[in-house]
Amino acid sequence: MTKNKSKLDFAGDWSYAPAPESTKVKIDKRYKLFIDGKWVEPTSKKYFDTISPSTEEKLAEVAWGNEKDVDKAVKAARKAYEGVWGKMSGKERGKYIYRIARMIQERARELAVIESMDGGKPIRESRDVDIPLVANHFFYYAGWADKLDYAFPNLRPKSLGVAGQIVPWNFPLLMVAWKLAPALACGNTIVLKPAEATSLTALKLVEILQEAGLPDGVVNVVTGFGDTGAAIVNHPDVNKIAFTGSTGVGKIIQKAIAGTDKKCTLELGGKAANIVFEDAPIDQAVEGIVNGIYFNQGHVCCAGSRLFVQESVADIVIRKLKDRMESLIVGDPLDKNTDIGAINSKDQYQIVKNYIKIGKEEGAKFHENSCALPKKGYFVRPTLFTDVSQSHRIAQEEIFGPVLSVQTFRTVSEVIAKANNTEYGLSAGIWTDKGSKIFNMTTKMRAGVVWANTYNKFDPTSPFGGYKESGFGREGGLHGLDAYLDLG
Ligand code: NAI
Ligand code: MG
Repeated sequence: MTKNKSKLDFAGDWSYAPAPESTKVKIDKRYKLFIDGKWVEPTSKKYFDTISPSTEEKLAEVAWGNEKDVDKAVKAARKAYEGVWGKMSGKERGKYIYRIARMIQERARELAVIESMDGGKPIRESRDVDIPLVANHFFYYAGWADKLDYAFPNLRPKSLGVAGQIVPWNFPLLMVAWKLAPALACGNTIVLKPAEATSLTALKLVEILQEAGLPDGVVNVVTGFGDTGAAIVNHPDVNKIAFTGSTGVGKIIQKAIAGTDKKCTLELGGKAANIVFEDAPIDQAVEGIVNGIYFNQGHVCCAGSRLFVQESVADIVIRKLKDRMESLIVGDPLDKNTDIGAINSKDQYQIVKNYIKIGKEEGAKFHENSCALPKKGYFVRPTLFTDVSQSHRIAQEEIFGPVLSVQTFRTVSEVIAKANNTEYGLSAGIWTDKGSKIFNMTTKMRAGVVWANTYNKFDPTSPFGGYKESGFGREGGLHGLDAYLDLG
């Protein structure tokens, strides 16, 4: 239980009960690698701890796969591709994927609780956003499995073979779903590497894949660190790499596969502009700003981390934003009232704290919520910087934490120039009452996704991906199939 006090906490000193499901999940002491339909010891016999960032307690030990393990997994995936999955009709593949989707729904609460324990995100997010989207993603791509010829008329789409998929820690199971569902629908087999801080839900998903009767070797899970990921990237018999994570690792991957015929999609960092015009519905915009940067601890590649407010409404927007910030509850991720959970890991906690320090040193004006933080765990208060200039590092670099930098603007052309002045281009948000302004802005923003009068809305039917250093290729929707097919 977490005690939270804030000025707006009108009920005074009271604590919230944790979500009742928090006691029900079963986590094994140790998780091996999942290769060719079986749990196997890692060759090195090495395991690492996965901890709960909100309690700093160890949850389980997870196998550390090396090059030899990756090689075994790729061989199993190749065998399954050639023997079963690549030859199976789309209609049959679709049945498996539908079954997986339904089983995810059945075990949704359990998956949500484990996601919040292992990664620190509030149960409200994992229960109401992540896991439902995971199931929806499988449902959506199950529907495409037998319709690929209709998706790409006259093109004779063919599967690629073995896909190596490397995912990050901010949406652990959702990123697995984004990768697995389209790859399976298109007839590919997979070697998957979850992020080292958050492997548990991917390992729980293995139980579902087994129960669904998915043939051996179709999905192999090799847990581990960056070296495990690199072994997948460098394996000569992998046909496609799908990666979501930091721009730095994205660049390493691109160099590693240059000159090979591996297909690749990279979804990297972001520094999204959330733009509020003077004619915007202010209260909704404030809610959208909060949703865009504070919920989920700002661990979102498309987080609205740069706020641009038109000068005439800047005072009122910032005042309302500060008021709303003050009501945010930071604490136990398993408490259903929590808005902001724990920062995912000690490393990321230090990165975020360091950027807050940098922001202060750069001369920006600092403001944070005044709530008490739990004594244990990696927690950061929602933070706001005003008097920020374009050249400040907090306005340029990805922080990946609940830290917002605020700038003002006067004209449309000024805000377009400022918003696009970043090396990233993943997403943007526009708040205005005028449809014509929205259309004008969407054509001018160099960003893969532009939300209008809303923020951070996801749907499996809608493609997602970046411009510039935010990566290339699209995941989701019809575009997401393209990434796993040879269209001739
Ligand atoms: P990272 O890019 O190192 O990790 C992402 C995944 O890549 C993990 O599964 C990791 O094990 C794997 N990996 C690491 N090195 C690899 C290599 N050489 N070859 C293949 N796979 C490799 O991200 P990290 O260090 O956890 O976070 C650092 C920063 O990256 C964050 O502060 C944030 O700014 C950004 N980030 C962006 C994400 C996004 O969704 N765009 C997700 C996670 C982090
Ligand atoms: Mg963990």
